[in-house]
Amino acid sequence: MLKDHSCGELDSSQVGKFVRLAGWVAKRRDHGGLIFIDLRDSTGIVQVVFDPELSQNSHQLANQLRAEWVVAVSGQINLRPEGTENLNLFSGQIELQVNEIEILNESKTPPFYINDESDNVDELLRMKYRYLDLRRSKMFTIMKLRHQILKYIRDFLNEKGFLEVETPILIKSTPEGARDYVVPSRLYPGNFYALPQSPQQLKQLLMVAGFEKYFQIARCFRDEDPRSDRQPEFTQLDLEMSFVEQDDILTLIENLYFGLVKELLGEKNIEFPFPRLTYQDAIDLYGSDKPDTRFGLLMTEVSEDVKESKFVVFSSAVEEGGIVKGFVVPEGSNISRKNLDKLTDLAKLNGAKGLVYFSVSDEIKTIDELQEIHVKSPAKKFFSVIELKNLFNKFKVNPGDLLLMVAGNKKIVNNSLNELRLNLGKNLGLINPNELNFCFVVDFPLFEWDENEDRWNSMHHPFTAPAEEYDNLLDIEPDQIKSTGYDLVCNGLEIAGGSIRIHDRSLQENVFKILGHSLDDIRDRFGHILEAFEFGAPPHGGIAGGIERLVMLLAGTDSIRDVIAFPKTQSFSDPLFESPSEIDSEQLNELNLIIRKTEKN
Ligand code: AMO
Repeated sequence: MLKDHSCGELDSSQVGKFVRLAGWVAKRRDHGGLIFIDLRDSTGIVQVVFDPELSQNSHQLANQLRAEWVVAVSGQINLRPEGTENLNLFSGQIELQVNEIEILNESKTPPFYINDESDNVDELLRMKYRYLDLRRSKMFTIMKLRHQILKYIRDFLNEKGFLEVETPILIKSTPEGARDYVVPSRLYPGNFYALPQSPQQLKQLLMVAGFEKYFQIARCFRDEDPRSDRQPEFTQLDLEMSFVEQDDILTLIENLYFGLVKELLGEKNIEFPFPRLTYQDAIDLYGSDKPDTRFGLLMTEVSEDVKESKFVVFSSAVEEGGIVKGFVVPEGSNISRKNLDKLTDLAKLNGAKGLVYFSVSDEIKTIDELQEIHVKSPAKKFFSVIELKNLFNKFKVNPGDLLLMVAGNKKIVNNSLNELRLNLGKNLGLINPNELNFCFVVDFPLFEWDENEDRWNSMHHPFTAPAEEYDNLLDIEPDQIKSTGYDLVCNGLEIAGGSIRIHDRSLQENVFKILGHSLDDIRDRFGHILEAFEFGAPPHGGIAGGIERLVMLLAGTDSIRDVIAFPKTQSFSDPLFESPSEIDSEQLNELNLIIRKTEKN
């Protein structure tokens, strides 16, 4: 090798040793006689000194060095002179006194300074020069963490007898609720492969094959609307087991994730076993099926209590089939008017017609003492003091608290209260950034009504089994059917989801029927898996966890792009390769494709 040591392994225990290092010039300082460089490799930084009295030639070469040039240096490790040590650096006690330097390559001046503060550089520039961005120790550390997570997962599942199987990338549509990315076929003109949204059907077929315990670190592709925790191409820990019940999968997964966090971030305090919350409780208490359980601000619904209120915002919402719900911000009465306006805007941004607030003075000791002057709220004139007291007691409001309420369509009320809760949790400092709060959400409904499409959708995906055996699924109101689905949530991020699967052809066909598929469509799109169910399909179930979201949590970053070596931008393009891009006419001809010109292209 061109080097015999790495920068990150040198410390005072190696003083006197002759070593050869290779890496990049992170910094050069010319102190008259002496030239210093910070030499960086993937493991760390070492200070390197060029003394003209030791080697005139090396000193002259060092004069030419610029940031990011690639060099190999040989010399002796010395203790740094007293008072010049750098306690922030592993190698901060020592320096390398150079005898010889070889310039391995030069570098243009980089478009941004390569250090860990470069997070503030325009992200597009960082992504265009991703290979420079990845030179930063922060990025390398995250990539290393990702590697360690994958290694832990592989070792853990290997130990438990799982087989890692690769499944194809060029397949047919696998519905997971997003659009497919498709690849045109040259050999079958006019035909397309679809990239897998997940290996869902393939892993089920492996269960039919009798593999019993499968896993894969699987690449998935989904053409869906961008979000801060989504990428069009991402990685799942995908696993499936035969002859299991829900509890078997949940126990396996909580042992895996708990062990992983303990191993990689030992100091974290995690509740074990992970709490289990029903879907209904999650929606009732947090307004979301991805609850951030690191803080309170739990919600209460009061539709029944206010349905006859003189305040029409409340009464008409209930009359129209909606709900009235809210939560208390303890000691929130000092939140300024300006901030309340901001909260109102946030509620409106999430579809609410408005935000109703009641700010209760801390001049009284208990709500029993409440009089009208103790309440600040634009809505208070619609309530008698008794009604206010009842409302506050229902919410367990204390003097000095702030009560926030939203009325209207159930989904909108829950969404907007959830956003308000998350915003306040963050801005009031209720979140301990060091905490990882895992919980399982269980007992999902099997279907949810899609108002835009005017039809039923699967809450997870169509292969999820109902929680109970029904004689005929088609006889039951779809919204009454519970599913065997489960999600793993951590700090408000959905990091895994799965279920026990249907393994019976007619039950699977009925689910497709409820989802609005015609018989022809069912046979055409899903004939292969339906047929497989007729050849001794065992009962089976599984789960898939998002690797990027897990790395985000463990690395403590909010951006999914930080945990992927070569991610797409927020609008799903790639500034480095400049994709997506047009293809030339020869390729189009070969694929039998004609591009229709639209305003967009
Ligand atoms: P699901 O669609 O819930 O389930 O996906 C499983 C997990 O994958 C992660 N994830 C994503 N991560 C980044 N970008 C995306 N666009 C993205 N979409 C999903 C999430 C999610 O919890 N086949 C089923 C699993 C099963 O039933 O076994 C599936 O894919 O962390």
